[in-house]
Amino acid sequence: DKPKILVTQKVPDAAYPILESFGIVEANEEEGVIWSYDELLHRAPGHDYLFCLLTDTIDARFLETCAAANPRLKMIANMAVGFNNIDVATATRLGIAVSNTPGVLTDTTADLAFGLLLATARRIPESERFLRAGRFTGWGPLLFCGAEVYGATLGIIGAGRIGQAMARRASGFNMRVLYHNRSRLSAEEEQRYNLTFVSFEELLKESDFISLHCPYTQETHHLIGEREFALMKPEAILINTARGAIIDEKALVRALQTGQIASAGLDVFENEPAIEPELLQMEHVVLAPHIGSASLKTRSLMATTAANNLLAFQKGEVPPNILNPDVLDQQ
Ligand code: GLV
Ligand code: GLV
Repeated sequence: DKPKILVTQKVPDAAYPILESFGIVEANEEEGVIWSYDELLHRAPGHDYLFCLLTDTIDARFLETCAAANPRLKMIANMAVGFNNIDVATATRLGIAVSNTPGVLTDTTADLAFGLLLATARRIPESERFLRAGRFTGWGPLLFCGAEVYGATLGIIGAGRIGQAMARRASGFNMRVLYHNRSRLSAEEEQRYNLTFVSFEELLKESDFISLHCPYTQETHHLIGEREFALMKPEAILINTARGAIIDEKALVRALQTGQIASAGLDVFENEPAIEPELLQMEHVVLAPHIGSASLKTRSLMATTAANNLLAFQKGEVPPNILNPDVLDQQ
């Protein structure tokens, strides 16, 4: 019998032929429609494989329901590098494999992070709105003066693949790059990207730009809050392309309102798609709708990567991006 696969959202075309080559695919065909938790919980049980997105909440209740169904759920392929939407510990306990899509979106996400940095520093979206509103009456010596990027100090929090790719971009702008990470990089890696390891506090105090590239976990929940904003420079610009809840968004609003920091460029939000209403009113803050990995090529690669992880599992191979390889011994 062919395994049953549920695809929870419309994804790039390249994924479907891979999935159809070995399974019976049931898919949400409506672009932009996200099934609610209840709808997904209603549809998923009885599928062998789940191809899901970061907007799907795969919690213990969901996993237990799918593990008890016939056929039981065997593997979840998340089409994202982040997997905080999935209770991986419970999946592991229930013998359900989980994979993500690292690597393929590293440079694309770093491009967006650096783009947000430039856009925020040089006030590009704000000045574009000004121009489109017909308010540009001529070159002005004081018109939209922003912060200098070239030569400034960038602090990178989380020096994994994406953080290192961000450092690579910064070196092209002759920036001084500080980083803080749970574990220090090798001397060779530090040298390659001209990175200086500093304490978390020192990074907050010294940086003109702070860019977040750590995963969202219990440890990084509200990593940047009231205490951290108080340590930052008044000129500091905060960039977030990681996960919204790494920042205490209400504390960010206060820090921006009181001038504790200068601005922020945000691609992710604590309660997305909801945004703190005050942020929407702040003209100098740059906001993007979680598009870090959104290039045609990368999204297609993420889709085929997720599909190929399921295919590998089906063939009895080790899925290349499995997050809980221990479950394979239990099969
Ligand atoms: C996007 O946010 C991802 O985790 O891939
Ligand atoms: C994600 O790919 C990371 O490790 O930064």
